[in-house]
Amino acid sequence: MTAAIPRTKICVIGLGYVGLPLAIQFAKAGVHVVGLDIDATKVEAINTSASYLRHIPAAAVAEQRRAGLLEASTDFQRVAEAEASIICVPTPLTKQRDPDLSFVLNTARAIAPHLRKGALVVLESTTYPGTTEEELRPVLEAGSGLVAGVDFHLAFSPEREDPGNPQSRIGDIPKIVGGLTSACRDRAVALYSLAVGRVVPVSSCRVAEAAKLLENIFRGVNIALVNELKVIYERMGIDIWEVVEAAKTKPFGFMPFYPGPGLGGHCIPIDPFYLTWKARAHGLNTRFIELAGEINTAMPLRVVDRAAEALNDAGRPLKGSRVLIVGLAYKGNVDDCRESPSFVIMETLRDRGAHVAYHDPHIPKIPVTREHAAWAGQESVAWSQTVLSSFDIAIIVTAHNAVDHQLLGQCAPMIVDTRNVMAALGPCRAKIWKA
Ligand SMILES: NC(=O)c1ccc[n+]([C@@H]2O[C@H](COP(=O)([O-])OP(=O)(O)OC[C@H]3O[C@@H](n4cnc5c(N)ncnc54)[C@H](O)[C@@H]3O)[C@@H](O)[C@H]2O)c1
Repeated sequence: MTAAIPRTKICVIGLGYVGLPLAIQFAKAGVHVVGLDIDATKVEAINTSASYLRHIPAAAVAEQRRAGLLEASTDFQRVAEAEASIICVPTPLTKQRDPDLSFVLNTARAIAPHLRKGALVVLESTTYPGTTEEELRPVLEAGSGLVAGVDFHLAFSPEREDPGNPQSRIGDIPKIVGGLTSACRDRAVALYSLAVGRVVPVSSCRVAEAAKLLENIFRGVNIALVNELKVIYERMGIDIWEVVEAAKTKPFGFMPFYPGPGLGGHCIPIDPFYLTWKARAHGLNTRFIELAGEINTAMPLRVVDRAAEALNDAGRPLKGSRVLIVGLAYKGNVDDCRESPSFVIMETLRDRGAHVAYHDPHIPKIPVTREHAAWAGQESVAWSQTVLSSFDIAIIVTAHNAVDHQLLGQCAPMIVDTRNVMAALGPCRAKIWKA
């Protein structure tokens, strides 16, 4: 009889958009994964081979359940069984737009008493440089009585994901890893090398934290730039979409960013302000970040103004008009509406007296969100000729492949198009207003 080879066992803490795919990726690599979450419904779903994320098929969960490599629990004592614990919990902003590390620190308090000597703890949540060392480390040390870098390893490895992009596979995306000590880093590199094709070691947790912020600030600033150019070129009678298509033929020194109705999602509208807060502590201002934030947050209001202009052109006031929001998710082909500009657009329209409904094939009912709780429970309207013809105007906020925009073009009298989807469809009954 041969003895069973002991498998690596890890805990993934926080089974959301980041944690669940990561847990599955490690399980696929033969690692035994215990997913921990305070949300019992997610734990129950995984343990019954179900998925609660649109882009993760239940079959992917079921496959790892059958292999005996994936389980979920709300019991944080399970950390004691694991060689490594990876923290993937939210890092939002407070109402005052300061970093809210409460989820990370609550997790640290919950796992510290169960941390065993020689274990590895990795933070994946996006945050400002210094968090792992200055915030997470002391809580883990106080709760465990162990010393980081001596009794247990501590590292930071940011998550990189492109939600809604079927070409983006977690195992193919290089993973940056920084450790508190070089031994911490090497340990984390060895762990991630089991599950991803390329690991990029850096000299410290701070560098890894700062690299993630650079990536997201880069996006936020460039989206703001193209949004500003959209407004300027529009006044000059130039179509920004055609301009970007032309510019992107340059084979070097340029990459395209596209205008839109404003930023959304858990990352780009939030993460840059983690650096703003930390820079302030060093007596510095983050002027690019602030300016980009100002331009991007003005976009949803601009979309509403465009709708008012379109209605006015047809002799109708915004007040009392029936407006259909097409797409609630913050980007195409995902079911995530966190920080979506659709909410600001809907709220502004409602405040100005319009009757607002929405359609989103991926969000049949608005979930409870931290920022826009008042919309919870509202349902997506049907996509039919009768329903679409009953609106005075439609605003395309999100371009989902699953939406028949052709039908919208035949039924709606006017469309404000923030994603340029109607341009590809040829002539239609609706008058199109780009925004
Ligand atoms: N979603 C993305 O595309 C993305 C991409 C890169 C980085 N990130 C970063 O990854 C982190 C997680 O984001 P997400 O989108 O997965 O969030 P999410 O809200 O989808 O998931 C977080 C999970 O953590 C759980 N949780 C909260 N507090 C907990 C606690 N104390 N103990 C255990 N579980 C707890 C929640 O119940 C939830 O299931 C954030 O820092 C985010 O900025 C997200």
